[in-house]
Amino acid sequence: MIVKLSNGRELPIEMHKVRIVQKTTLPPVGQRLQAIEEAGYNTFMLRTRDLFLDMLTDSGTNAMSDNQLAAMMVSDDAYAGGESYYKLLAAVKEILGFDYCVPAHQGRAAEHLIAKIFCRPGTAAPMNYHFTTTKAHFEMAGTKVLEIFGDGALETESDNPFKGNIDLAKLEAVIDEYGADKVAFVRMEATTNLIGGQPFSMANLREVRQVAQRHHIPVIVDCSLISENAYFIRRREKGYENVSIAAIVKEMMSYADLIYLSGRKSTCVRGGLLATNDPKYFEQLKAWLPVYEGFITYGGMSSKEIEAMTVGLREMVDLDVASSSADLIQYFVDQMVEKGIPAVTPAGGLAGHVDAMKFLPHIPQSQYPAGALAAALYLASGARGMERGTISMDRDEHGNDVPSDLELCRLAVPRRVYSIAHIDYVVDRLVWLLAHRDLVGGLKFIQEPPVLRFFTGKLVALDGWGQKLADAFRADFGERM
Ligand code: F0G
Repeated sequence: MIVKLSNGRELPIEMHKVRIVQKTTLPPVGQRLQAIEEAGYNTFMLRTRDLFLDMLTDSGTNAMSDNQLAAMMVSDDAYAGGESYYKLLAAVKEILGFDYCVPAHQGRAAEHLIAKIFCRPGTAAPMNYHFTTTKAHFEMAGTKVLEIFGDGALETESDNPFKGNIDLAKLEAVIDEYGADKVAFVRMEATTNLIGGQPFSMANLREVRQVAQRHHIPVIVDCSLISENAYFIRRREKGYENVSIAAIVKEMMSYADLIYLSGRKSTCVRGGLLATNDPKYFEQLKAWLPVYEGFITYGGMSSKEIEAMTVGLREMVDLDVASSSADLIQYFVDQMVEKGIPAVTPAGGLAGHVDAMKFLPHIPQSQYPAGALAAALYLASGARGMERGTISMDRDEHGNDVPSDLELCRLAVPRRVYSIAHIDYVVDRLVWLLAHRDLVGGLKFIQEPPVLRFFTGKLVALDGWGQKLADAFRADFGERM
């Protein structure tokens, strides 16, 4: 929640109490240098023991509520017919409005099942923007991913409240070009992860639905951050100022033929699900489920996580929960902008993002500026962010790098985990880094997996810049900081 202070400033205030904590330590700069060298300048390859703040992702790292933990104690581990599934089914009906629900072990498992059912060579899947695992699954199944966002969606400094909107004229053009029967589905991602957690508007989803329906094309919504997208609609879209998050989510869902989500985000657990009102889709999904995930009543999830997801679905439509990380991210972005850090605006869901091409203009995309910035910030702070740029794009069929539209260093703000002091600290270290940015150089791959290389690939710092940056940091702050 945002409260107004007597001096007029807005303060994001926590609507929960901290009752269990996990200790963290600030490893000295020498340890950080050794760790990032060993990790191949890839923050995914760092270990928790070498981190101060883990801002890699909000996936599976949100603080759970007391009610979620309590629900885990009463789960039903039956292989088939477990009662936990039926409780989930009831929550899916109540919160999302769907009769059928298919659990899966996480979001990409849901994408895999969708690819199995909808994707064929020669077809296209228009969407507001791709996500890494989404694109991998759909394109491996032969469907071309087409991004049809509006003008200005890729401008990092912007006041466009809905950069996640689909351009309707482009959607019509794609349907014309491919023919409606070759458009597998239209996909909307509720807050487009890779362009900075940017939401779409209700009006846009409604119109996308109308166009798709006219051509008998299904609409699929990725609901991983549905509660944040709903919160942004409430904050930014005329007519929704006083509508509850629950009602906004329900309306969004009424425009979807099929939804899926990574339950690791809005619902604060480790799992995933698909839901629909179409018995045909349900039967098709159900047929593949035992092959890849598990029996229909658990789908690869632990029954404890199913119980917690049931509670998480109901909690995510509480305004205080839906706003918990979005308001802190807004504060984070405001602080960055105030101090001259090129942050992505408007603030989105899941993370604060820094435009690495503006932060490190001397590093060409071929030397991965966003990866370099994530590694440099870790060295300067012990905070681990994530590269969302060219490293996160796999090579084309000729083995060439595919330059990403944006080079972002993402600093995730998991729900209810970090405080304003943590955010202020990270902003301060970004300020220090900006003043020393000439010391940061590019990166080069030395070990590169063929698919989703960003997860485990290894790189080196060109001209050994890591050591020079660590030396400059030590000179200003000493070894222990
Ligand atoms: N869709 C979106 C929009 C996501 O952000 C993610 C995961 C997935 C699908 C895949 O779900 O991880 O449960 O298999 N995003 C994580 C992140 C990995 O860090 O942003 P998953």
